[in-house]
Amino acid sequence: MALLEIRDLGVSFDTNDGVVNAVNGVSLDLARGQTLGIVGESGSGKSQLAFAIMGLLAKNGHARGSVRFDGQEILNAPPAIINPIRAMKIAMVFQDPMTSLNPYMRVSDQMAEVLVHHKGMAKSEAVAECVRMLDAVKIPDAKGRVGLYPHEFSGGMRQRVMIAMSLLCRPELLIADEPTTALDVTVQAQIMALLADLQRDFGMATILITHDLGVVAGFCEEVLVLYGGQVMEKSPVDPLFGAPSHPYTRGLLRAIPRVDQHGEDLDSIPGSPPNMTRAPKGCPFAPRCDFAGEDCHDHLDPLTEFTPGRWRACNRKLEEIA
Ligand SMILES: Nc1ncnc2c1ncn2[C@@H]1O[C@H](COP(=O)(O)OP(=O)(O)OP(=O)(O)O)[C@@H](O)[C@H]1O
Ligand SMILES: [Mg+2]
Repeated sequence: MALLEIRDLGVSFDTNDGVVNAVNGVSLDLARGQTLGIVGESGSGKSQLAFAIMGLLAKNGHARGSVRFDGQEILNAPPAIINPIRAMKIAMVFQDPMTSLNPYMRVSDQMAEVLVHHKGMAKSEAVAECVRMLDAVKIPDAKGRVGLYPHEFSGGMRQRVMIAMSLLCRPELLIADEPTTALDVTVQAQIMALLADLQRDFGMATILITHDLGVVAGFCEEVLVLYGGQVMEKSPVDPLFGAPSHPYTRGLLRAIPRVDQHGEDLDSIPGSPPNMTRAPKGCPFAPRCDFAGEDCHDHLDPLTEFTPGRWRACNRKLEEIA
């Protein structure tokens, strides 16, 4: 049995302009210890997918479908079921650590609180464990710095603190939503290397959410490409980079900076992501797709396994987009 089983997940928001369909019919399986990247441009529904799993949608949001964690339904589950899972088994790291760290509490206090509250540890024992975890995320002089306030750490160090905090209860699933986008490139690479080490050491399943396919390449076994809240392509990493099967994935790949193309313009995908209040009834990517025909504006063929382990949702045959 998969650790995480998502079936036909939909997320919509009620707004003054109508209903926003942020996630539409997403299904996926994640095994224990597996790493999955979710990529897509801004607004493609990546964060709302994660929030729906965690039961953290905004008040005007509704989720439908099914999310099973370790066999148990957790979508729209009551607090008695979701709270312990969220505290102990599934952890989330966000883009901006300051939204998750309390600026008025010493790092030692806010980290230790997690262990005192959820594991019933004594405070001194909890602080010792926090120092061990800060060591694990390579914060220099963890023992000396655990008593500082969040603003006394640099951006990269704060992100390390966040990661340490998320791992305190040894989660079985870590969801990292753009964990490095707020950081400069060098620090980004350090944090990703750290996450990869920790993922191996702790053996936790990990979902990495990013708009940058380049980040996924070094970290994930599998990739899910999201557009307009729908899965366009799902594939192991290597074949996806070698032979992307969807026009949208190709566009994303062309937008990755490459060292051998220094100084050349990157090909960004022309046009902009769909307005999800008037979600198109056909393929959401059709208005921007070079290969779209009349049919694409009318309907989108379901996600199909075109070769073992690789799935695509596209009305055009592979050879037609060659
Ligand atoms: N509370 C809300 N009310 C209405 N619409 C919302 C709400 N939260 C998110 N949305 C919409 O849901 C869609 C998907 O948003 P989401 O945050 O999942 O995008 P994303 O893929 O994470 O983008 P980014 O890369 O910018 O983080 C967007 O169109 C967004 O405007
Ligand atoms: Mg997001």
